[in-house]
Amino acid sequence: MNVLLIGSGGREHALSWKLAASPLLTKLYAAPGNPGIAEDAEIVPLKIEDHAAVIRFCKEMRIGLVVIGPEAPLTAGLADALLAEKIKVFGPQKIPATLEGSKSFTKRLCAGHNIPTAAFIETKSREEARVYIEKHGAPIVLKADGLHAGKGVIVAMDKAEALMAVDQVFAMSSNPGGDAPVVIEEFLEGEEASYFCFVHGEQVLPLASAQDHKRVFDNDQGPNTGGMGAYSPAPVFTKAIEQEVLEKIVRPTARALAKAGTPYSGVLYIGLMITKDGPKLIEYNVRFGDPECQVLMPRMKDDLLTLMLATANGELEKSSVRWRDEVAITVVFANQGYPGAYQSGAVIRGLEKANAVEGVTVFHAGTRRDGDKLLSNGGRVLNVTALGKTVTEARERAYKAIALIEWPEGFYRSDIGWRAIAREKAK
Ligand code: AMP
Ligand code: GLY
Repeated sequence: MNVLLIGSGGREHALSWKLAASPLLTKLYAAPGNPGIAEDAEIVPLKIEDHAAVIRFCKEMRIGLVVIGPEAPLTAGLADALLAEKIKVFGPQKIPATLEGSKSFTKRLCAGHNIPTAAFIETKSREEARVYIEKHGAPIVLKADGLHAGKGVIVAMDKAEALMAVDQVFAMSSNPGGDAPVVIEEFLEGEEASYFCFVHGEQVLPLASAQDHKRVFDNDQGPNTGGMGAYSPAPVFTKAIEQEVLEKIVRPTARALAKAGTPYSGVLYIGLMITKDGPKLIEYNVRFGDPECQVLMPRMKDDLLTLMLATANGELEKSSVRWRDEVAITVVFANQGYPGAYQSGAVIRGLEKANAVEGVTVFHAGTRRDGDKLLSNGGRVLNVTALGKTVTEARERAYKAIALIEWPEGFYRSDIGWRAIAREKAK
């Protein structure tokens, strides 16, 4: 089967790497791709916003499945356009993708189906927002509606900061004239974890858990980023918690969307806070996490393409998935300045040596080629990923590999996996 993969980040390199190993695959195409993906796929110059062009390409190349990696084409309705032409697609249509595209859509769904989440109001009034903050105090969380690459959320630790943030969060909302441009919610205390399931209608195939590191610097200091590293599984996410999340959060969500006539199909990313009162939903994403995907793929024993086809075809009840016993960790090698301004175009050397370290795979996130040179081309540039028997071993391998990469303009956190390693040490 021919497959078209949409996307250009580290997540999509992890997907191309895993898809390329499929016995079902004839040829993998990717757009826009990156130099890492180019090792697994033929890069095609398709504008993914141009749905008609993507459809033409799929018909011409007899594409059996389109795999959509990032959220933007999903919320833009690429899956709807492909399905209307009877082209198979992995990824949800526009309305179910609103789970990620709109905070208030998800909060309403939670409220309507008793799904555990932070107490909240949605509001279009700055005055109402201020009154709510005065009443509830801090810490408190303000969220702008719309897609913001993880930057539309303000966690205010005191009341004055929260009141100051009201104007900012209204200004960020991508739907300022709508009836709920802003959500204000209770601050949840606990440990964060993410969980992934393949979903088709009411069918759910549980995958695995992961934990990422959102702050830019060691010891969880500095501004939030898209993620500076991750590991899988997340030790805080026990079997008992998994059952609770499936029964109280994932299945009711899948059922509600199916009953509304807008069934979900694709991977569902469940962002959770594990509180002392049990797991609560922080957010949904309608795609794999980045960099969480980079730690899930090396652990997956079964064939990804088979599972993605089962998702698209609604055959998840017949499917199962197995995982390696090893844990995986990924360290993001980022451009100095990220998540603020940075300069691209510096030369990177040493990837071959890094890839040769036992258990290590380096995924490309923001790179480009210039002749035989590899250059940085983005904020998060490489994802140095390692398997190991323990988080401690995986982490040693990842840092050994990253030390072999010559890129003085880059930086990385040196404490990825600290929570899990502290748990291993405590045992
Ligand atoms: P979101 O984009 O909704 O995932 O929020 C981004 C980050 O803000 C999350 O990963 C959490 O670290 C934090 N956050 C969001 N909502 C809450 C909440 N209700 N309580 C505590 N932290 C939160
Ligand atoms: N790493 C967080 C995300 O993919 O949204």
